Amino acid sequence: MKRIVLCAALMMALYSCSEPKKNSVQQEEGLAKKYEQNFKIGTIFAQPQIEGVDKLSIDIVKKHFNALTAENCMKGEVVQPEQGRFDFSLGDKVVDFARQNNMYMVGHVLVWHSQPPKWIFTDSQGNRVSRDTLIERMKNHITTVVKHFKGKVDAWDVVNEAFEDDGSYRKSPYFEIIGEDFINLAFKFAHEADPEVKLILNDYNVCKPQKCDAIIAKIKELRSSGLQVDYAGMQMHCTMDFPSKNEIETTLKKFEDNNIKLQITEFDLTSIPFPMGNTAEISARADYQEKYDPYKNCLDDDSRAKINSRFKEIFDSFLSHSQNIERVTVWGITDKGSWRLDWPIPGRTDFPTFFYSDGKMKEFLME
Ligand code: XIL
Repeated sequence: MKRIVLCAALMMALYSCSEPKKNSVQQEEGLAKKYEQNFKIGTIFAQPQIEGVDKLSIDIVKKHFNALTAENCMKGEVVQPEQGRFDFSLGDKVVDFARQNNMYMVGHVLVWHSQPPKWIFTDSQGNRVSRDTLIERMKNHITTVVKHFKGKVDAWDVVNEAFEDDGSYRKSPYFEIIGEDFINLAFKFAHEADPEVKLILNDYNVCKPQKCDAIIAKIKELRSSGLQVDYAGMQMHCTMDFPSKNEIETTLKKFEDNNIKLQITEFDLTSIPFPMGNTAEISARADYQEKYDPYKNCLDDDSRAKINSRFKEIFDSFLSHSQNIERVTVWGITDKGSWRLDWPIPGRTDFPTFFYSDGKMKEFLME
C-alpha cells in the first residue's frame, strides 16, 4: 500500500514538472543580434569553458552573446598569487576567445576586498602594511594587469563593492589602510596604464537609495578632480522581490539624470529561499536544508511562469532605459554553471540565468 501511495506521489510530481518550450524563431537569431539596438548581451567564462569541455555552453556563448567577463580568473588571487609572480595563463585564454568571436571584453576585477592577492595587505610578519606600501602594491598590480591586457580588454571593473548599503564606505582593508581615496588612486593608476580602456565603478545592491546616491556622488567627485570614470556597474544579483520594479526604475533614472552611463555587470535571479537578507557578499554562507531547496526534484508550471515573469519585469526595465545602458551581462551561461547553486547555500537547484541547465532558453526571452 505504502509503495502504491509513493508511486502515485512520484507520478504526480513528474506530471506537474513542466518542460521548457522548444526553440523559437527569435532563439535561432541569437540574443546579441536580437538586442543589438539596445545593448550588448554578455555572459561569463569559467574553467569548463576555458578548458573547452562544456561544449553546450560554449555553443550558447557563440550564438547568443557579444560580451564576455572572466568569472574568476582575472581576479587578484589568480593573477598575482604571490608578490611579483603574475599568472595570466587563464585570463589570456578568455581574452583570446573573446577576440576570436568579436566580443566586448570586460576585465574583472582590479581592486576588491574579496579574492584579492592574498598577500597584499600584510608584511612577512603578518602585520598590516603601511599606507604607502599598499598604494605601491596596488599600483603595481593595477599597472601590470592593465598593461598586460592592453588593447584586448574594452572595460575594467576597477573598484568593486566599495560601499555599504547605507552609503558609507565599506571598511575593507583597502579603505582602512589607504583611506577613501584608494578609489581615486585605483582609477588614476588604471587610466595611466591604458588611457584607451573604459573604467567602471562596480557594486551590488545599487538599487538601495543611499548606496546609489553614494556611488553617484563618488563618480561626480572623481570626474570633477579630472579622473576618468566611464560607467557605474550595477551587478544586479536579484531575488524574486528585490529590487522591486519601482526601485529599479528609480535607480536607472537617477543615473540618467546624473549623466552616468551604466553597465549591468552580473545579472542573475534567484528564485529559491534566500535566507541571508539582500546581499551579494560572497563570504555569506548558510548550511543546506531541504526546505531551502524547493525545486530539487521538479519545477512546476506555476513557478516556472513566476520566474519568467520576474525575469521579464527586470529585463523590460533594462530595455526601456537602454539608451543609457551599454551592456547587460548575465552571471552564468546556463543554470547548471551558476554560482547561485552553491552560494550562499551549497548544492541547490536554482534558475538564475537566461538558459535552463539543458541549454533551452528561458521563455521570457522568446517573446
Ligand atoms: C563569484 C563567482 O561567480 C564564484 O565562482 C566565486 O566563487 C565567488 O565569486 N560579485 C562579483 C563576482 O563581483 O566576482 C562574484 O563572482 C559574485 C559577486
